[in-house]
Amino acid sequence: MKDHHQQSVASGGETSVTLTVNGEAHPLTIPPNVVLLDALRDRLGLTGTKKGCDHGQCGACTVRMDGQAINSCLKLAVMCEGSEITTIEGLASEAGLHPVQQAFLEQDAYQCGFCTPGQMMSASALLEDAHIGTSDAAVREAMSGNICRCGAYKNILAAIQSARGQVQAEGDSL
Ligand code: FES
Ligand code: FES
Repeated sequence: MKDHHQQSVASGGETSVTLTVNGEAHPLTIPPNVVLLDALRDRLGLTGTKKGCDHGQCGACTVRMDGQAINSCLKLAVMCEGSEITTIEGLASEAGLHPVQQAFLEQDAYQCGFCTPGQMMSASALLEDAHIGTSDAAVREAMSGNICRCGAYKNILAAIQSARGQVQAEGDSL
């Protein structure tokens, strides 16, 4: 145990962690109190994930961790080792935009761009979550952690519902 401790806690109280982000492993040496949001933005240069409130209240920092939407401002980076993190930069694939991204475009569901990455990460997660119902009310409830101050909720909801069929079809073909 002692050896492990000496290995993982580097000098100056920093800790070694490997974050797997968008399919790529990133070894980092960071203070143990660095949150995932700051590790992504400041250490890995993935600035698509936004810092809004920094207190778990706005959803701007939403990323996916093993498929689930999480607030990256509330998660210590060192707790993310062994998990697959997906950020907005990893949502599209070689095949093109994610259905949610395409639908947001078509439905004019984004405006300021600050909350949109988090909205898209939550939307993509909820459409793959069998525990979340398909009604508008269920989608609104699942998206309630993502605040949009400009009030694009109506178009965001329309975009999510219109992306549903394609996400389902892609899931079925895997
Ligand atoms: S920045 Fe994380 S919820 Fe607002
Ligand atoms: S789209 Fe960002 S606040 Fe509405």
